[in-house]
Amino acid sequence: MEALDPSKVFVITDTHTRQHCSTLFQKHYDFPVTPIFLEMPAGEINKKIDQCVTFWNELSQYGADRHSVCIHLGGGVVTDLGGFVASTFKRGITFINIPTSLLAMVDAAVGGKNGVDLGYLKNQIGVIQDPLFTLIDIDFLDTLPEEELISGYAEILKHGLIHSKEYWEKAVAIDFSNKSQLEQLVWDSIEIKHDIVRKDPREKGLRKTLNFGHTLGHAIESYCLKEKDHQTLLHGEAVAIGIILACHLSFQRHEFPEAILTDVCDTIQKHYPTPFFSKTAIHEIVELLAFDKKNDRGKVCFVLLSDFGTHVIDCEVPTEQIFLAFEFYNKLNS
Ligand SMILES: NC(=O)c1ccc[n+]([C@@H]2O[C@H](COP(=O)([O-])OP(=O)(O)OC[C@H]3O[C@@H](n4cnc5c(N)ncnc54)[C@H](O)[C@@H]3O)[C@@H](O)[C@H]2O)c1
Ligand SMILES: [Zn+2]
Repeated sequence: MEALDPSKVFVITDTHTRQHCSTLFQKHYDFPVTPIFLEMPAGEINKKIDQCVTFWNELSQYGADRHSVCIHLGGGVVTDLGGFVASTFKRGITFINIPTSLLAMVDAAVGGKNGVDLGYLKNQIGVIQDPLFTLIDIDFLDTLPEEELISGYAEILKHGLIHSKEYWEKAVAIDFSNKSQLEQLVWDSIEIKHDIVRKDPREKGLRKTLNFGHTLGHAIESYCLKEKDHQTLLHGEAVAIGIILACHLSFQRHEFPEAILTDVCDTIQKHYPTPFFSKTAIHEIVELLAFDKKNDRGKVCFVLLSDFGTHVIDCEVPTEQIFLAFEFYNKLNS
C-alpha cells in the first residue's frame, strides 16, 4: 500500500461494516495518513444515486483530489456504490476493495463492475473499472450474520454450476464452521470468476455466464424492492430462486439432466427461503425482465446450461416456458 503515497485516504463503509469491521481493517491499514471514514446506511435500498451525491459532496468538502484513494470496506452494496463514486469523482480516483461479506468476496468485489440501482431496477447505472487491488481476509466473516453468509453462498453455487461438477460438489459439501474449508472455497470461486473476466472483460460472450440465475433473480429482486408489502429477499436469496428457474429452463430447452436439477433444488431448498409466487406476481416479474441489461434489441436473453460448465448464451425463451418453470418451482413446496 505505501508505494501509493496518497494525499488523503477515504474509507467508504456502511453502518454495519463501520461498526464491525473497523478494528480488523486497522490491522491491514498501513498508509502514513489518517483515514477519513465516510458512512452510508446499510442495505440494497440505499444503493442509489442520491447516496453517491452525498459521498461526492463529502469527498469534495474534505478536499479529495486525484491523488486521494478510496477504500471500500463492506459488502457488495458498498463495493458497487463505492466503485462508482470513486470511478467518476474528478473523472476517477484510485480505489481499493476490502470485501467484508461472503458475496462481495466471491463476486461483487471482483471483476470491476460498479454501479447503483435506478429506483427498484437493479444495477441500471454504472461503469466497469477495476480496483487497484482487492484485499481478502476471511476473518471479516466472523461478524457477518448467518443469512448474509448463506446469501453469498448462492454465488458460489452459481460458480459451481457454470464451472464444473467438481466445484459444485465441493461447494455442496461445505462445512461453514470449518474456516480453512471456507477459505479454500472462496479462493477457488474468485479464481473461477477472475478467469472468466480476464478472458472476456467487456461481456461479449463468456462473461455472460456469470449472469446464470440472475435474469429472473434480478427481476425477482426488483419485484421485492418495488413495493413495501412485497416479501423482502436478499440478493443471494433471489439469485438462488433464479438458479432453480434457470436450471428448469435449461432442462426444458437444452437437455440439462434431471438428476442435476433435483440436486440443485434439494441444495437450495435446504438453505434458502422459497416463497410461493402468485400468478399476478409472476406476471409482474416477467414484465420486469424487460429491464435486464443483457437484453438485445428488446429480446430477453438468458444464460442456460446443458450440463455443468456447458453454457448456452443469448437464449430467447418463450414466456410459456418461464411460466412452466415457475409452476415447477411453486410445486417444490407442496
Ligand atoms: N459488481 C458485481 O459484479 C456484483 C456481483 C454480485 C453482486 N453484486 C451486488 O452486491 C450486492 C449484494 O452484496 P452483499 O450481499 O454483500 O450485500 P450488502 O453489501 O448489503 O451486505 C450485506 C449486509 O451485511 C452487512 N455486512 C457486510 N459485511 C459484514 C461483516 N463483516 N460483519 C457484519 N455485517 C456485515 C452489511 O452492512 C449489510 O447489512 C447487490 O447489490 C448485488 O447487486 C455485484
Ligand atoms: Zn449476483
